Amino acid sequence: MKKSIIRGSGFFVPPHIVTNQDLTEFMDTSDEWIRQRTGIHQRHWITKEDACGASDLATQAARMALDKAGWQPNDLDFIIFATLSPDIMFPGGGCLLARNLELDSTPALDIRQQCTGFLYGFATADSYIKSGLASKVLLVGAEVHSSGLDKSTRGRDVTVIFGDGAAAICIEAVDTDENVGLIASALHADGHFADTLKTELPASNLFKRLPDDLPIDDPRYYPVMDGPVIFKKAVRMLPKVTMEVLEKAGMNLSDIDLVVPHQANKRINQAFGQFLKLPEDKIFHNIEKYGNTTAASIPLALHEAIETGRIGNSGDVVLFAALGAGLTWGASLYKFP
Ligand code: UT7
Repeated sequence: MKKSIIRGSGFFVPPHIVTNQDLTEFMDTSDEWIRQRTGIHQRHWITKEDACGASDLATQAARMALDKAGWQPNDLDFIIFATLSPDIMFPGGGCLLARNLELDSTPALDIRQQCTGFLYGFATADSYIKSGLASKVLLVGAEVHSSGLDKSTRGRDVTVIFGDGAAAICIEAVDTDENVGLIASALHADGHFADTLKTELPASNLFKRLPDDLPIDDPRYYPVMDGPVIFKKAVRMLPKVTMEVLEKAGMNLSDIDLVVPHQANKRINQAFGQFLKLPEDKIFHNIEKYGNTTAASIPLALHEAIETGRIGNSGDVVLFAALGAGLTWGASLYKFP
């Protein structure tokens, strides 16, 4: 049976670092508040000089992942691009990424599942692989948040958490009877909570997508979030979906070597670990360096976990888990071959 095996990973963040202290120059916040409430110390943001789209960050991450896999762009037979901050309204970032990689016919699919984009993308790649539709898939998550954030005090609860960045994995179809690769996924969505984290404009549900005379600082242009509601949902649903995916896989918590969760808030991931009584060192964190990079966050954390030797030996089992805008949430289990 065909299994989905990760052959390489890569990442890219814009070089400019914005510390918590830097944010205090334009909004009422503090390094202490941000560290205590989120665990974030800094994030990377594009600047006026290196302004670019999510697909451009994705291209750099993809090139690194392709190098690690020993693949050329031409080897790919499918591209999946997860983002909530596409370069432009349409066409999708996958097409722009494929263009940057000088491909002219490789199919490219965009995933709009925000923080769970990587989980939905990996499950989609796995379905393509299992059905024989693809054998070498590039999965990328990339975000340029900084150009669309409300950098006044009004937007501080959202703005301080988000960072720009991209990360990618190369996934190959391998014929084996061993229980390796993407073992199981559990995915969910509940649109009843769509308003708890959203950016409203531009909106096709308005008679005029960009209303006349709209002040440029209209809050609907910026992401808004009911942070406490999402926080509580995450702490409740992440353990639940973890048990669901373990049951699907016929595995136990003790089979997990490392949890690589979405990096939304360090306190969420600590509470998630405590609820499941997992040892602290089984949960991977890198939010302090990058903030919340949404679709890029899990593959970026995975890349660092592999590069630093925390995971990746034959037989190692990693759990991915995320909850975010949609609301969408899910978990998946991957076993290194
Ligand atoms: O990845 C996408 C999914 N998103 C998430 O998972 C985010 C989940 N939520 C969170 O991480 C947290 O809710 C936040 C970090 C967004 C906020 O932390 P919180 O502990 O839930 O704070 P809060 O929203 O309840 O606000 C507490 C206080 C408020 O002031 P008052 O009303 O108590 O005077 C806020 O106005 O903190 C204030 N506040 C800030 N103060 C300084 C909110 N943001 C800031 C800020 N700096 N950046």
